[in-house]
Amino acid sequence: MSAAVAVPLLELRDVSKAYPGVVPVPVLRGASLRVNRGESVAIIGPSGSGKSTILNLLGTLDHPDSGLVLLDGQDLTRLHGAELAQVRNRQVGFIFQSHHLLPQCSVLENVLLPTLADAKASPPDAEQRARRLLNRVGLAARLDHLPGQLSGGERQRTAVVRALINQPKLLLADEPTGALDRISAETLGKLLVELNREEGVTLIVVTHSQELARQMGRTVELQDGKLV
Ligand SMILES: Nc1ncnc2c1ncn2[C@@H]1O[C@H](COP(=O)(O)OP(=O)(O)O)[C@@H](O)[C@H]1O
Ligand SMILES: [Mg+2]
Repeated sequence: MSAAVAVPLLELRDVSKAYPGVVPVPVLRGASLRVNRGESVAIIGPSGSGKSTILNLLGTLDHPDSGLVLLDGQDLTRLHGAELAQVRNRQVGFIFQSHHLLPQCSVLENVLLPTLADAKASPPDAEQRARRLLNRVGLAARLDHLPGQLSGGERQRTAVVRALINQPKLLLADEPTGALDRISAETLGKLLVELNREEGVTLIVVTHSQELARQMGRTVELQDGKLV
C-alpha cells in the first residue's frame, strides 16, 4: 500500500461548534471522522442533530469553534479568501434538498454555471462533459428544458451533474432525496453511488432516510454532537 492511500481524503478531528445567542446552542461536541478516497458515507441523525452543520463545515461554508477539518491533509479551517474559494470551486460539489437551479436557464446552462465562475478550475471540454453526464443520468432529451418543465427527480439529477461538472474530489449531499417521492428517491440514491464509483468522487450524504443510508458504503450517526 502506498503512503498516499494511507492519508484519508477527509478528516474531521475533534470538531466543536455552537451557534451563538442569548442561550448558545452547542451542536457539535468533539466530532471526529475519517473518510478514505472513493468511499461513500451516510451521516444520519434526527432533525436538529447537526447534520447540515457538519456538511457546511466539510464544504468550507462554515467554520468550527475548535478542531480541524482536513482535506487531503490540508487544514481547511486555516484557509481564507481566494484560497478558500478555490477549494470550494474546484474540490467540492454540493447537492441540497432543494435543487437551487436557476429558473431562467436551461438544464445544460445550469450545469455549466460552475464552469463560468472559475474558468481555470473547469475541465477544458466542460460542455462535452456536461452532455455526457446528462446523458448518463437519463437527461439527454432534456438539455434545453427549463427547470420548471422538469419533474422533481429530473431537477435533482440536473443538480447532481452540476455538482460534478468541475470534477470535484468530494461530493456533499444534504438530504438530496428529501423532496422526492419514493421511486425518484431510490433512483437518485442508486445514481449517486454509481457516479461515486464511475467518477472516482468521494461521496458524503447527510440524510434521515434509512433507505438512502443503506445504499452508501457505510453509515455514521450523529449522537449528542459526536459521530459514532
Ligand atoms: N445559523 C444558525 N443559528 C443558530 N442556530 C442554528 C443555526 N443553524 C442551525 N442551528 C441550530 O443548530 C442545530 C443543528 O442544526 P442543523 O445542523 O441544521 O441540524 P440537522 O441538519 O441535523 O437538522 C439545530 O438545533 C438548529 O436549530
Ligand atoms: Mg439539515
